[in-house]
Amino acid sequence: MMHYDVRRFASVSSTMDICRQLAEQGAPEGAVVVADAQTAGRGRAGRAWYSPPGQAIYLSLLLRPSLPARRLSWLTMIGALAVLDALDALGVPPSRAGLKWANDVLLDGRKVAGILVEAALTADRLDYAVLGIGFNVNTDFGGAPEAVRAQATSVRQAMGRAMDLSSALDLLLATLAGRYARLPASPLPAYVARLETLGRPVRLRVGDEEVIGVAERVEEDGALVVNTPSGPRRVAFGDLLNECVHGQGQQLG
Ligand code: BTN
Repeated sequence: MMHYDVRRFASVSSTMDICRQLAEQGAPEGAVVVADAQTAGRGRAGRAWYSPPGQAIYLSLLLRPSLPARRLSWLTMIGALAVLDALDALGVPPSRAGLKWANDVLLDGRKVAGILVEAALTADRLDYAVLGIGFNVNTDFGGAPEAVRAQATSVRQAMGRAMDLSSALDLLLATLAGRYARLPASPLPAYVARLETLGRPVRLRVGDEEVIGVAERVEEDGALVVNTPSGPRRVAFGDLLNECVHGQGQQLG
């Protein structure tokens, strides 16, 4: 099992930055940076991650897995599955929780956690990876930007009661270690089993382009294959536009 070295901070720019510094200094796998608040928490595609103090888990875990670079998305899947395991342990019914491609954990169809993996590669191997998790345990979105409020939730908001943050962190670290220990077995089957995206009409932003079709499958490297009117399209990195996930998206004809 992984040995953790947990470092706690009151406030940091982003736990990703601190953890990357540790990685560059040669820290071993299992270094964990946890902060009560972030002043520049970030998500995918350069977006900000709402990080008010003392309400949520902001963590970055240093990993040095023996994986080829093309398996990097396995770490995203492991992070997302670990959050689902933690939700389960917190008493959230599994029917209310699921995953949205590529890196979102949903509770009642709203985003309760996001996963961000940043990696350093040497040739085609992973040198190290930083697995970042933002987990909205008790977050009150009253002060959040409208775009966040519209799509996010927290365990507290969904379950109607606050959770003990430090036990939630312990739970999450335990479920993460458990999921990570299953490597080199692929996390893809477990990930796909909880993915709410497949079989649905989707609209994706891929760079400047929009891809519209039906989400067909996820490949071993994490790419989503979408059946579009002009044939199957593999999307390695893109943003699933939310409204389609819940079936109110543009009708395909
Ligand atoms: C996303 O949904 O786009 C990913 C969000 C990841 C947020 C977490 S919070 C802890 C870590 N530090 C960051 O700045 N980001 C990740």
